[in-house]
Amino acid sequence: TTSEARVVVDLDVTGPTISRHLYGHFAEHLGRCIYGGFWVGENSEIPNEGGIRLDVVEALKALGIPNLRWPGGCFADDYHWRDGIGPREERPSMINSHWGDVVEDNSFGTHEFMALCDLLGADPYVNGNVGSGTVREMSEWVEYLTRGGESPMVSLRRANGREEPWRVPFWGIGNEAWGCGGHMRAETYADLARQYATYCRDHGDNTLYRIAAGAADDDLAWTEALMKAVTCGLGCRTSPKHFFQAISFHYYTHAGDSIATTPATTFSDEQYYATMAKSLDIDRVIRAHSAVMDAYDPDRQVGLVCDEWGTWWKVEEGTNPGFLYQQNTQRDALVASTHFDVFHRHAQRLVMANIAQTVNVLQAMILTDPDTGALVLTPTYHVFEMNRGHHDAQLLPSHVLSTPSTSVGDTPLDLLSVSASRRDGSALLSLSNLALEDALEVSLDLRGVPFEVARGRLLAAEDPRAHNTPETPDAVAPSTLETRVEGTTLRVTLPPAAFATVELTLS
Ligand code: AHR
Repeated sequence: TTSEARVVVDLDVTGPTISRHLYGHFAEHLGRCIYGGFWVGENSEIPNEGGIRLDVVEALKALGIPNLRWPGGCFADDYHWRDGIGPREERPSMINSHWGDVVEDNSFGTHEFMALCDLLGADPYVNGNVGSGTVREMSEWVEYLTRGGESPMVSLRRANGREEPWRVPFWGIGNEAWGCGGHMRAETYADLARQYATYCRDHGDNTLYRIAAGAADDDLAWTEALMKAVTCGLGCRTSPKHFFQAISFHYYTHAGDSIATTPATTFSDEQYYATMAKSLDIDRVIRAHSAVMDAYDPDRQVGLVCDEWGTWWKVEEGTNPGFLYQQNTQRDALVASTHFDVFHRHAQRLVMANIAQTVNVLQAMILTDPDTGALVLTPTYHVFEMNRGHHDAQLLPSHVLSTPSTSVGDTPLDLLSVSASRRDGSALLSLSNLALEDALEVSLDLRGVPFEVARGRLLAAEDPRAHNTPETPDAVAPSTLETRVEGTTLRVTLPPAAFATVELTLS
């Protein structure tokens, strides 16, 4: 059966800019994300540039990925950057104790990461070590990366073959300091964030955007402690007057009581709807953090960053539990599309988001086969690609006048999720039908500016459990969406559990 929904979009009322950095990524030394995912080494048969997989780079370039966070995650607070520079054969090894207790040989380090960002055309987001590092270590890493002219760290960088400083816009001050990053209390970490941020200096014309390690989910007390600490008071030598420019939080989606408890592909209908409810609940979490921040920073100068988000299922059978390798279905695609609708609505405070993680870990864009090296694009990849038109576009208000809904426990769940934006002479509409059984006929009244439909695209599957494998790489892939226009009304029919985009040309 088919249900109906009605939406109004004001094409002539532009809101805040949706930063492209809401489409950011995250790559940790975890399982096969770096090793086997991005990095195969120079001697691999897989085509590579300086050891970096070119097929992965090509696929990600189509997403226009704006930034890449590295080296963790929990790994960041175990990582000592000096172990990852200089001749590879001389680099010391370490144990990656968080992720599989495996030996990390440091063959992928600072220079390799910066080369990867160059190939991707992505801004580096380097996450420094507070948990087991020192202020000096972090300060010198910033100097090594970003300083020109003459200095001890510049000489070291030159000796390792890089003359010019790199540009590093984003800098993380530790990670999950309440947990794997040191099990600190909020006030303790808040003071450390001020201290570390003080010594992460702007060298030459490189200006760091310092991001303090934030809350888990809706831990508002953590955010409040950081907001109390962010402003530099009397005797302040930093400029502008904030020690750090943004505060992060992490939010993972699951279908039960906690992460890693339900399977990626063999879920029940109840688990599907629980996933959608959990996905959309990030709206409440962002709203709550924003309200706390508004009380201390009404002009919204401090950014909110969701630098880890995505689904967290049980690992695939037969894989190392510490490697967090999971399949990715049409359900994951809808988690991504609904997150983006929410992110767009919060574009004024939310300045960056990073999906966890880009390749082979958690909600990945790309899965690579450990034996053959074959590469598969996931349904989530296609959502990022179809939504590319929202990067740096201006939010358009979309009003859902009517939609079918259901409930998950006591929580009502609207089955249509929408967002819209405008850039130059075009607009992009994103629509998700979350219903498992019913198709959804959506009538959109597009007011304010005459338009033509440039393209309609659909990401749908027979079953929300559908996923791509090396044998069936296009089981979930974009196809054409039929669109009908009468006057200012656009009509589309979305199959169950489907995502669609409509690109408009505005006159
Ligand atoms: O993304 C996997 C892990 O999840 C990260 O290392 C950590 O920050 C979070 O707990």
